[in-house]
Amino acid sequence: PPDPERAYTAAVITLSDRASSGEYEDLSGPLIQDFLENQGIVVEERLLLPDGREALEKALIRLADQREISLIFTTGGTGFSERDCTPEATKAVCDREVPGIPEALRQYSLTITKKAMLSRQTAGIRKHSLIINLPGSPKACKENLEFLFPELFHGIGILR
Ligand code: MTE
Repeated sequence: PPDPERAYTAAVITLSDRASSGEYEDLSGPLIQDFLENQGIVVEERLLLPDGREALEKALIRLADQREISLIFTTGGTGFSERDCTPEATKAVCDREVPGIPEALRQYSLTITKKAMLSRQTAGIRKHSLIINLPGSPKACKENLEFLFPELFHGIGILR
């Protein structure tokens, strides 16, 4: 288990065909990293992957099992596009689901945009890691992150 004396660690994974091919700049990944660092969390890795399950599942397993990262955020791939399968990859690797987090995020997000009903985001626990899906847009990521902290620290404190 992660050392209780050290700062919490995090990893950020952006899922985007167009950003990973260089067509778009990934703005959400850096935004999430900056936000977490401002919370005193050490962001150990930031990855940019194409949409799809295989590479994401491998990365989530590595980050949880080998790196024992406390908090893993994904951004993107939670919508209706055919290639959006971030929630499915998350569920495939988690030991236990954490339904309260996506429920709370959708409920809060609906006060901002009714399109939040279209977010298939989910969250779960794998070993000592908490995995949370965020929507793809920087705006949505910022709104979701602002809602999650500081209460999230209580949850990852238990997983240590
Ligand atoms: N949640 C918040 N807080 N703010 C937003 O702007 N965008 C919604 C939703 N959740 C949004 C949000 C939109 S437009 C979509 S399509 C779904 O997230 C899925 O987003 P994704 O496909 O970028 O993952």
